Amino acid sequence: MKLFEAKVFIEKSLQEIRESVGDRNVISACSGGVDSTVATFLVHKAVGDRLVAVFIDDGLRREGEPEFVVRILKDLGIKTRFIDAKEEFFKIFAGRVDAEEKRRAFRHEFYSVLGKVAKEEKILVIVQGTIKADVIETVKGIKSQHNVLEQIGIDPLVYGYKILEPLRELFKPEVRMVGRELGLPAEISERMPFPGPALSLRVLGVVTPERVKIVRQATQIVEEETLQLGTFQNFAVLHNDKATGIKNDERLYGNIITVRIVDSTDAVTAKAREVPYEILFKIAKRITKEIPSVVRCLYDITDKPPSTIEFE
Ligand code: XMP
Repeated sequence: MKLFEAKVFIEKSLQEIRESVGDRNVISACSGGVDSTVATFLVHKAVGDRLVAVFIDDGLRREGEPEFVVRILKDLGIKTRFIDAKEEFFKIFAGRVDAEEKRRAFRHEFYSVLGKVAKEEKILVIVQGTIKADVIETVKGIKSQHNVLEQIGIDPLVYGYKILEPLRELFKPEVRMVGRELGLPAEISERMPFPGPALSLRVLGVVTPERVKIVRQATQIVEEETLQLGTFQNFAVLHNDKATGIKNDERLYGNIITVRIVDSTDAVTAKAREVPYEILFKIAKRITKEIPSVVRCLYDITDKPPSTIEFE
């Protein structure tokens, strides 16, 4: 097998991007994740100020994330537009409980918002950080990843534009290598993966601002308590059903949170980490203490396969 050389990939990519874009302007949907930020930075290197990065605040991001992403893009010298679309996204989730239906709804809203921005900016080319694993899972029908369109027969022109996916042939470790070679800060290139549809995949059942707030708080606790583990992904999931518990000496039929901590290199397979009990115990203590509605905290010990990393 040929060894991946980030430098060679970047040179080839820059040329391809320039050829494909010509003298047009480009926008890049940047969520702050490794893939979309590396893709954004790569295209910025190719076309400079003809690129506008767009951060869509869908109300589903982790604590402090919108501010973090905007700061990073600014530090990298990339022109950025911040779009507050929280209301629109929560509207489309109303009444939806099925995982795939939620994914499709997210995808549709995501492209509609981007399409609108692209029209305002009179831009026809949109950059996305789609990587190989996204394409494989979507084409196999395991999950419809939010950023995969053409491969499943949806014409991006329906939404009004052409899609540029410079990382579509790479897996996550190679994307990180490209990020490092491009000189991105480690807080981006070494970042824990985070899915495009964000916390909507981790709120099982209906996605509402209140339910997202619960999982956001739990996520922050899990991340704080597992920083030193160096695992591939660490997060919390809010269940769609409830359980009996006791708070303030009274019965509370409350929420259930599952904690998922996995090792992986490319997200195609994953292993549940054997986390020291003291860490799990502390997480459970904090989650049930700091989030009033949560009465039960579970740990997921299933590998991928047969599970997937996310619950939805
Ligand atoms: P699963 O849950 O399929 O996830 O084992 C594999 C990896 O992909 C991430 N993931 C997504 N990333 N859009 C993304 O950008 C999506 O729709 C999506 N779904 C899952 C997941 O967090 C894991 O790293």
